Amino acid sequence: MLNPVVAIDGPAASGKSTVARGLAARLNFTYVDTGAMYRAFAWLALERGVDPADRVAVSGLVERVPLALTISGGSVQTRLDGRDPAPFIREERVNAAVSKIAAVPELRERLVIEQRKLRNLAPLVMEGRDIGTVVFTDTVFKFFLDADPVIRARRRQRQGQSDVVAARDQADAARAVAPLTKAADAVLVDATDDDADTIIGKILQICRARGLSAAKVDAL
Ligand code: DC
Repeated sequence: MLNPVVAIDGPAASGKSTVARGLAARLNFTYVDTGAMYRAFAWLALERGVDPADRVAVSGLVERVPLALTISGGSVQTRLDGRDPAPFIREERVNAAVSKIAAVPELRERLVIEQRKLRNLAPLVMEGRDIGTVVFTDTVFKFFLDADPVIRARRRQRQGQSDVVAARDQADAARAVAPLTKAADAVLVDATDDDADTIIGKILQICRARGLSAAKVDAL
């Protein structure tokens, strides 16, 4: 039987990560941050002097570089060419480059294949931009988190990050392949006023009403 997947999509700084991580903990599911994978490739391109907007050069990188996704401690770790990009993927230069590289179809194809494989390993809470519209269109546990843009920009500032949130959203929503958009069958959750625990509670309630139950810890 297929492992269940909870899909959480939404714009930058909508609170997706906190909510998805919290949900995964409550359900004993594996948390998957797909933005981290696009960020990892953006970082690698910058390291190698590859223009993240150059489709041909990025496709070459995507073809050549070994990518390994592994599950440990309830979440997925990404390694690119044997290196762990995690310490670098929130850098300002990566924030500025990631939407460009995320528009390259060859990169998206490769990552979608890898993301789908994770379902064979564990039940998932996966967050991103295209989880409900492309990666796992068949899941019935589909949510789109949104929040007021002013609140989102403030949230990033509080996290000490200089992030081009509005510009990133615009680029993510305007791209030809897998644009940021709510799946028709996703439940829209407005995260402007509620805290993460309240949102997690709401989502859990909907998931349970649709037949989802927590994974048994010893089954993981
Ligand atoms: O979730 P995040 O802000 O860390 O994502 C970084 C960028 O990666 C985002 O601006 C667009 C891209 N992204 C994507 O195109 N598709 C996904 N499933 C996840 C992220």
